[in-house]
Amino acid sequence: MKEKGSSFTGSLGFVLAAAGSAVGVGNIWRFPYLCAKDGGGLFLLVYLILVATFGFVLLTTDIAIGRKTKQNALKAFGTIQRKWKFLGYLTFLVPTLIMTYYSVIGGWIVKYFCVYLASDGKEAVGDGYFTSFISSKVSPIVFMLVFLALTAWIVYRGVEKGIEKYSKIIMPGLILLIVGIAIFGLTLSHQDADGTVRTGMQGLSIYLKPDFTGLTVKRFLEILLDAMSQLFFSLSVSMGIMVTYGSYVKDEVHLNQSINQIELFDTGVAFLAGMLIIPSVFVFLGKEGMAAGPSLIFISLPKVFEAMGGVGRIIAIAFFLMMGFAALTSAVSVMETLVANCMELFHKTRKQMCLMIGVYSLVTAVLICLGYNVLYFEFPLPNGSTAQLLDVMDYISNSFLMPFISLLTSILIGWVVGPKWITSEVERNGETFKREGLYSFMIRYVVPVVMLILFLVSTGFANL
Ligand code: PHE
Repeated sequence: MKEKGSSFTGSLGFVLAAAGSAVGVGNIWRFPYLCAKDGGGLFLLVYLILVATFGFVLLTTDIAIGRKTKQNALKAFGTIQRKWKFLGYLTFLVPTLIMTYYSVIGGWIVKYFCVYLASDGKEAVGDGYFTSFISSKVSPIVFMLVFLALTAWIVYRGVEKGIEKYSKIIMPGLILLIVGIAIFGLTLSHQDADGTVRTGMQGLSIYLKPDFTGLTVKRFLEILLDAMSQLFFSLSVSMGIMVTYGSYVKDEVHLNQSINQIELFDTGVAFLAGMLIIPSVFVFLGKEGMAAGPSLIFISLPKVFEAMGGVGRIIAIAFFLMMGFAALTSAVSVMETLVANCMELFHKTRKQMCLMIGVYSLVTAVLICLGYNVLYFEFPLPNGSTAQLLDVMDYISNSFLMPFISLLTSILIGWVVGPKWITSEVERNGETFKREGLYSFMIRYVVPVVMLILFLVSTGFANL
C-alpha cells in the first residue's frame, strides 16, 4: 500500500527532487578535488563520456525499475523475479551505510558556514584547523545534530510537502549562487612574491583543455577509476534511491526526457562547481595547490577566500550555505529511502519510522564522529591505504557494494529479463527512446564487464 500524497505532483517535482538527491557534496566537493588532482581537462573529458554512457544506462535502469514495479527498492527486485529478492536487500545496505556518515560531513559544512558568519574566517586558514576540528570530541557532534535534525524534519513532512517543496526552492537557488561565484572567480588574478602572475582565465583553460602530455596507460586507468566511482556517487545510482524515487513518478511522466534533465542538472552543477573552485585554487595556490585531494574544500578554499580580501568572507558564506543546501537534499533522499522502505517492511507509520531511523542515524553518526578521536583506528583498505571509520563506510558502499550491485543488476536486466523490460517502460507513453540501441548493448555487454573489473580492483583481487 502506498501512503497518501506519496507521489511527485508532476515531472518538474520529480526532476528537481531526483536532481536534489544527485546534486550534493559529490558535485561540489568530490568532483572538483578529483578533477584538480587528475589534471583538469582530461578528467573532465573522461567523466563527460562516462555520464553519457554508463550514467545514462544506470540511471534509466533504476528509475524504470521503480516506476514499473511501483515498489521501493527492497521489494522491487523480488517483484521482477522472486529469486532476485536478495538484490533489493543488498541495495538497501548502501543508504544504510551512507546515512551513518553523510550527516557528519553535513555537520562540517554547517560548522564552516557558522565560522564565516561569526568571524572573518582567519582562524579557518591555519593548517591544523580542519584536522583539529574533526578530531575534537564535542563540536563535530553538535554540528552534525543540527544537520541531522533538519534532514529528519523534511523527511517527516513527506514527499509532496517535504521533499518536493524544498527541492523546488533549493535547487534553482543553488544554480544561481554557483554561477554568480564562478563568474566572479574568473575575474581574479594574483601575483606571487616572485612576480609570477596567475589569472582566473588561465585556470579556466587548465580546467577545460585536456592535457595528454606524459599520459601512461596506468595513469589513464586511474583517471578512469576515479571518474567511475565519482559517477556512482554523484548520480546516486545503484543504491535503491533512484528506484524509490522512480516509484513515486506518475505514469504519464516522460521518463527519457526526465532522465536526461536529471543527468544534465547533476553534471551541470559538477561542471560549474569545478569552474568555481579550480580556477580560484589555481590563481591563489598554483598548480601544487590543486593536488590537495579531499581536503581541497575545507583546507585550500579558506586560503582562497582569505586571499580574496573583504569579499572573501561574503563569498565563503554564500558558498557554504549553498553546499549545505546541496548536502541537505541528498541526505533527505538517503533518509527517505530508509524510512519509505522500513515503513513497508515493518508496517509502521511515517512518524514512527522517522523516529526510529532518526535514532539509528544519530547513534551511528556519533560513532563516526568518535572515529576521529576515542574510536580512532587505522583500518587497512585493499588498495593499500589506511582509513578512519568514515572512509571505511564510504569505501564499502562506493567502491565495493555499488559496482557489485550494478554488476548483478545488469545481469538481471540484460540477461534474465532482457533490456526490453526496461525500454518498454521508458516508451510507455509513446515516447521514442532515442538511445535504445546504446542502452541494450551497454546493459548486456559493457556494464557487466566493467563492473566486474571495478569490483575486482576495489576488493584487491586485481591490481592496476
Ligand atoms: N549523489 C550525492 C552527491 O553527489 C550523494 C549521495 C550519495 C546522495 C548517496 C544520496 C545517496 O553528493
